Amino acid sequence: MAINYTKEDLLRVSNMASDLKESIILGGVLPYMDITYDGGPLIPLTDKRPWHYVDVYESLGIDRNAEYRFLEIGNRWCGALWGWRIYLPNSKIYGLDIDPETQKFSNNNPDIGVKVYEGDQTNTQLLKQIHKEAGGLDVIVDDGGHTMTQINTTFQTLWPLLNDGGVYIIEDLQCCYWPNHEGGLKEPNSSIELIKSLFDNIHACYYKSENKIKSARAKHKISHEPSNYFDKSVSSVHVYDSIAVIYKNIKPTLVPTSLEGNFTQEVHLSQEICEQSNMNLFLKPEEKNHYKKLFNNAVNSFPKK
Ligand SMILES: C[S@@+](CC[C@H](N)C(=O)[O-])C[C@H]1O[C@@H](n2cnc3c(N)ncnc32)[C@H](O)[C@@H]1O
Repeated sequence: MAINYTKEDLLRVSNMASDLKESIILGGVLPYMDITYDGGPLIPLTDKRPWHYVDVYESLGIDRNAEYRFLEIGNRWCGALWGWRIYLPNSKIYGLDIDPETQKFSNNNPDIGVKVYEGDQTNTQLLKQIHKEAGGLDVIVDDGGHTMTQINTTFQTLWPLLNDGGVYIIEDLQCCYWPNHEGGLKEPNSSIELIKSLFDNIHACYYKSENKIKSARAKHKISHEPSNYFDKSVSSVHVYDSIAVIYKNIKPTLVPTSLEGNFTQEVHLSQEICEQSNMNLFLKPEEKNHYKKLFNNAVNSFPKK
């Protein structure tokens, strides 16, 4: 039986769900009702049971009315995917699952339903094709096979394709510590190590020599490697129990957002450096003068040697 909802149906159900949790509960039964419902008890067809994931999603500030292009990898019976469908009625919802059974729960319509691609998340050509056919992606959730190769290959392929300002979420990171998922504590190939390495990407401007502000403190540890795409695109990383959220914002050049030095000792120097390199201290001229005076008073109040 086909799943055949109209835009009106979608909006009606969407209005019933006041938040993501309710959307996921409703979404979990929606495809089921059309396909197999025989009047028996309704069981949500999703395993998004760790509700703290939902709290994390709700903290992202997702705009329910926005027109996102949303992809979830790993859909099983598509309960969560339909939950997102209900939560974001104006977005395009895509899925990808290796299991052909999942197709039963898709109506192949990303506008008023869900379009699920069948395939392997390590098939980089397929990932690129999905991105192309969707016309870009704003939100990507990886809840697929959870092996280190799967998570890493998918991230390395889709992160550069994610729209600027987009968000990438990886679920079930507990698998990073389990050998049967190719993981283990501090295993070099573990996806948690990949996520940790993003901290260095965020801070690349403080140790890469191409940065205009040569860090006096990094001195001998300065890296002469050029910046890479991850240095320029990872804006923040949030890790919770078993789920990571990675935000993307393209920086045209490596420019620090915090001061190079210790504020009290180096405020003069920092201010000059910031001005030379067009770094914005977000201070008005009168504020700058105020802080300069304050600094000079503080310096003069120290006993002279
Ligand atoms: C944890 S379930 C997804 C649950 C769903 N996201 C939810 O919240 O209800 C994992 C899914 O990933 C799929 N999967 C496993 N390995 C995969 C792979 N290599 N590529 C794509 N999907 C895969 C499985 O078929 C399964 O449906």
